[in-house]
Amino acid sequence: EQTCLFQESLLNWYQTEQRLLPWRENTDPYRVWVSEIMLQQTQVATVIPYFLRFMEWFPSIQALAEAPEDRLLKAWEGLGYYSRVRNMQTAAKQIMTDYGGKMPKRPEDISALKGIGPYTAGAIASICFHLPEPAVDGNVMRIYSRLFSICDDIAQAKTRKIFEGKVRQTISPTQPGDFNQALMDLGATVCTPTSPKCDICPLAAYCSAHHAGRMTDYPVKTKKPK
Ligand code: ADE
Repeated sequence: EQTCLFQESLLNWYQTEQRLLPWRENTDPYRVWVSEIMLQQTQVATVIPYFLRFMEWFPSIQALAEAPEDRLLKAWEGLGYYSRVRNMQTAAKQIMTDYGGKMPKRPEDISALKGIGPYTAGAIASICFHLPEPAVDGNVMRIYSRLFSICDDIAQAKTRKIFEGKVRQTISPTQPGDFNQALMDLGATVCTPTSPKCDICPLAAYCSAHHAGRMTDYPVKTKKPK
């Protein structure tokens, strides 16, 4: 059946082509959390050295919760958007008091933490706790809009929920974390915005936009949403 083939092709591709990234060495929720926050507004290549140093300086949720502010800001210097690291410390303190220092497992508890939105909550829940939760960002909306010729305007905030629904219908129930990370890699390296490499794409056979030769018509994005 179509959905299963698409999952299997994506997971097989990920098995051989996945990027080797330091936060993928294990699925400790703290590592995944820190990496996802850093990656929100910063490129992978820039994040790597910051991530490694951050893990040395603050190796645990407890260490982050107890870190002096000047040291925290020093670790973030050059990354910008300092509210990201301030919110992480607030959330670390929440985790210490409310969850005994361990990241909660329920997606609704994860997304209630300061600075953790639906994308990051989905990434943590799927990668660390093997829950079939979507992690929808611009890459995933681009891939899915092409796969299924979805014309909803991605500049509209409400459109993300449409894509979340589509990912819920198609995510691998057995390897949801690999499935989500495969989408991240596919969006970064193959299904790119202006010149997608359909010739090497594991999903080309299943892709509506590819069949129509209309890859770059997707995603639909208006300049000024209202
Ligand atoms: N971009 C956002 N999250 C990512 C991840 N876990 N790996 C690579 N790129 C990402």
